[in-house]
Order: sequence, then structure tokens, then C-alpha cells
Amino acid sequence: MLTSVLSFTPEEAATATDYCLAYSDGVSANMKDLWNWTRNEFDDADKMSSPLQGATNKFLAELLKPKRILEIGSYSGFSALAWYEATVDTQAEIISTEIEPRMIAATKRTIDKYGLKDRVTLLEGPAQESIKTCKGTFDIIFVDADKEGYEGYVKTVLDQKLLARDGVIICDNVFSRGLAITENAGAHLNQELVPYWIECGKKMQKLSAFCKNDQRVDNLVLPLYDGMSLIKWKH
Ligand SMILES: C[S@@+](CC[C@H](N)C(=O)[O-])C[C@H]1O[C@@H](n2cnc3c(N)ncnc32)[C@H](O)[C@@H]1O
Repeated sequence: MLTSVLSFTPEEAATATDYCLAYSDGVSANMKDLWNWTRNEFDDADKMSSPLQGATNKFLAELLKPKRILEIGSYSGFSALAWYEATVDTQAEIISTEIEPRMIAATKRTIDKYGLKDRVTLLEGPAQESIKTCKGTFDIIFVDADKEGYEGYVKTVLDQKLLARDGVIICDNVFSRGLAITENAGAHLNQELVPYWIECGKKMQKLSAFCKNDQRVDNLVLPLYDGMSLIKWKH
């Protein structure tokens, strides 16, 4: 196989997702419960990570054994719950950020309902301001908020040396539904959203170019989910 991506129709992609999920561990009863609640509660629940992506984050965190995690973009707290469950051994401190009042309320509900208060802190308000208040280093930094903010978040994290020496930044949605790669990718989308995703795609191309060219870091762009970049310090 010469390419790294299989060509699936949307229906085949859904079947492949179910297949992967059926043979994967890591999606706990609480994660399922929160995922279903969020889907029922919010019209824009496609912003939430998929269960398989939650399982991926958990798997990575169980391997990396982080002591501190910074998450930029909480939504309903689904990914924060996954980080929490993955770090029972290390008792990691998890800092999550969120700007939207209804999602701040949803994340607070998640923290209360699933008993995450001892290790999860929610910073309310614009992430760029919240990041600037962070001290020390983080072993995992999950960037999953407004697409126009990503490059600024990554630059601030690097400039402030918030990433631990052996830490990793995980950027979600770097494909922007495929439109970062090609404007032909919009056929399967709600057409009203195509201009939005084209703009997001341009921001993500700029982010990827920045990460590739910045001499401080190594960048790995993976065709997982909506595109996932892993960034680490060069050693
Ligand atoms: C893609 S969702 C996060 C999904 C979540 N991490 C998960 O895995 O389920 C992005 C979230 O970032 C929030 N957000 C957008 N702009 C932001 C900003 N400037 N500062 C903080 N949060 C922001 C949105 O309100 C939204 O809840």
C-alpha cells in the first residue's frame, strides 16, 4: 500500500469506526454515559471527541504516564473524563479550559457527576489568557478549541516552555473535515458549513507549516479522525 489513508465512502467510514470500536478497549461506562448525555443535550455535539478518540487519548495517556495535562477546549468534559480515567496511577493534575458559558456549566456537571474534582480544574474564559496563567510544565497538552486560535496556543506553549521535555502536544482537527488538504473534500458536509471549514483549513495549513518549520520541534501529522498532529521538542 503506497498511501497512508484508505478511501472510504461516508457509510464505509461509519462501519469502519464501529468495527474499530467493537474491537477496542477503553470506553468506560461513564464515558458512554457522558457521550450519550451530551449528544442528547446539545445540537453541536459533533464538537465532542468520538468514543474511539476518547479511547485513543486514554491509551496514549496510560502509556505516557503524565503527571500534568493541559487541555485547551473542554466542551462537555468528555476528554477530561478520559484523561482522568487514564491517570489513576499517576494521579495527574488535569487543567481544562472553556469559554462558552453553557459548556462551562456542562463541564462543571461532568466534574461533579463523575467525581473528578480532586484532579480536574476548569479555567473559564479565553484559552489564550488561561494558558498565560499556567506555571510549570505539562506532559500532555491537548489542543482542541477554536481553529483560529491553534497556532497562537502552540506558540505560547512553546515560548513559555509549558511542554515538558518528553511531553507531547496533541492537536485535533488539523484536517478540518479534509478542507485543509483539498477544497474538494466538502461534498459530504452540510454545504452551509463549507466556507467555515475552508477558513479553518487555511488556519490548520498555517499551523502545520509553522510546526514543520519551527526548529525547536518535531511535527507528526496523522490521518486519524479529523487529522491529528503530534508535536514534541527536538532532542
Ligand atoms: C472541539 S470542542 C472540545 C471537545 C473536547 N475536547 C472533547 O474532546 O470532547 C472545542 C471547545 O473549545 C471551546 N472554545 C472555543 N474557543 C475557545 C477559546 N478561545 N477559549 C477556550 N475555549 C474555547 C468551545 O466552546 C468548545 O467547547
